[in-house]
Amino acid sequence: MSTVRTDNTQHLTPGALPSSMQLNAEGKLKHFLTIEGLPPLLLEEILDRAEQFLNLPNKAQNKAPILRGKTVMNLFFENSTRTRTTFELAAQRLSADVITLDIRNSATSKGESLLDTIRNLAAMHCDMFVVRHQHSGAAHFIARYCPPHISVLNAGDGYHAHPTQAMLDMLTIRQHKSCFQPLKVAIVGDILHSRVARSQIHALTTLCTGEVRVIAPRTLIPAGIEKMGVNVFHKMEQGLEDVDVIIMLRLQKERMQSGLLPSEREYFSLYGLTEARLKLAQSDAIVMHPGPVNRGVEIDSRVADGSQSVILEQVTNGIAIRMAVMAMVMSGQTGEQR
Ligand code: CP
Repeated sequence: MSTVRTDNTQHLTPGALPSSMQLNAEGKLKHFLTIEGLPPLLLEEILDRAEQFLNLPNKAQNKAPILRGKTVMNLFFENSTRTRTTFELAAQRLSADVITLDIRNSATSKGESLLDTIRNLAAMHCDMFVVRHQHSGAAHFIARYCPPHISVLNAGDGYHAHPTQAMLDMLTIRQHKSCFQPLKVAIVGDILHSRVARSQIHALTTLCTGEVRVIAPRTLIPAGIEKMGVNVFHKMEQGLEDVDVIIMLRLQKERMQSGLLPSEREYFSLYGLTEARLKLAQSDAIVMHPGPVNRGVEIDSRVADGSQSVILEQVTNGIAIRMAVMAMVMSGQTGEQR
């Protein structure tokens, strides 16, 4: 595969936030912006809370009253199917009032600034913003400038972080593998443009996963990624050997400069997850993908829909993880046990 561009340094993880940005004085979550810097016990608490919510029946009369009287505003400046919908469902199942702003038809199209939008929505007495934005750092910016009683949940910002996606992935891994310490986990594909990969790496290393591997062409790996505690492979045949978990990533064509890849066909021939390549992993390895899937580009449909795929379980787990995080940040704001 030809290498046209090698300067990947601008995609390296942005500087760590002070933990006081997302934790209160007692160390409880008040915002959920990034996994970087969070203690392992807090990640385990999120997973445990989500497990409790998994069995909550999906019936209006059985909703949990945890966010009754609270208003959640979903602000998706970038498209989403899974994250937006599961955040909405999660808020509804916690009995919140939920507004999803139609950004395309909002005053943003007339040039209203992000800060003015936030100030106006805050004036409507909301309690939580769920934010997806194309710019890295947007959720932090909102958390910094919104009134202190409002919690901000990052639903994906630029290349930076997608912390609830990483936590629903951790829940799915824990359900299948119980414990992180003995596991070898491979993350495959467009690491360079992936906020999901960055958050997964922080979560996996915080939870003391045995080995975290990234597998990708040189053009799709950020320079210096080894500092995050991962082993780098450029060949699928080496990187997949004996792994317990394979996380495939979408090629983020919308974020790519031209020349990073010669063709999707060649990419699939070198990095696509096929049935033959899956056999290199442990026989009980699970296959994950955050979605949306480019079938035939990063993964063969027979693998995406096969018996080792847990892709749709990840989606289901997204509701429980988002319920857990919403309940915890409200508790972190009010000091009440929710
Ligand atoms: N995994 C994920 O973030 O998917 P959506 O873009 O559909 O929300």
